[in-house]
Amino acid sequence: MTWDGTAIDWSALRRRALEAAAGAYAPYSGLKVGAAGIDDQGRLVTGCNVENASYGLTLCAECGLVSALRAGGGTRLMAVSVCAGDGAPLTPCGRCRQLLHELGGPELVIDDGPDRPPLTVADLLPMAFSPEDLQRSQR
Ligand code: THU
Repeated sequence: MTWDGTAIDWSALRRRALEAAAGAYAPYSGLKVGAAGIDDQGRLVTGCNVENASYGLTLCAECGLVSALRAGGGTRLMAVSVCAGDGAPLTPCGRCRQLLHELGGPELVIDDGPDRPPLTVADLLPMAFSPEDLQRSQR
């Protein structure tokens, strides 16, 4: 299945990200975040951020998303939207860009809000470290 981003119902995906944000546990930052994605089977996966009293252990919403993808038998993400609890679109943090690259590759399309066309992981994380780089180092 190929996706060019135009077939994605971004407003529906954004709504699911917002719903996921309602389950976030963010007592320290106060920033609830939800992430929603579509895999290559057309299945929806979601995640939310989970903070910790040991602040550095915080799990971003995208961490939950990639775990839910794998736990549900999915392998490949095609489109992802990340939203704050107030509905504002959020751009994935640097670590999460790398997580999304692993499960969606550079062509994975990322919501950039209702007023702009979606971006790709390649836009957000050029020259990403990839499994190919690991193979290269073993030569
Ligand atoms: N956060 C995410 O869930 N995803 C991101 O891509 C950026 C940051 C969360 C982590 C933390 O709970 C809160 O936002 C403030 O940094």
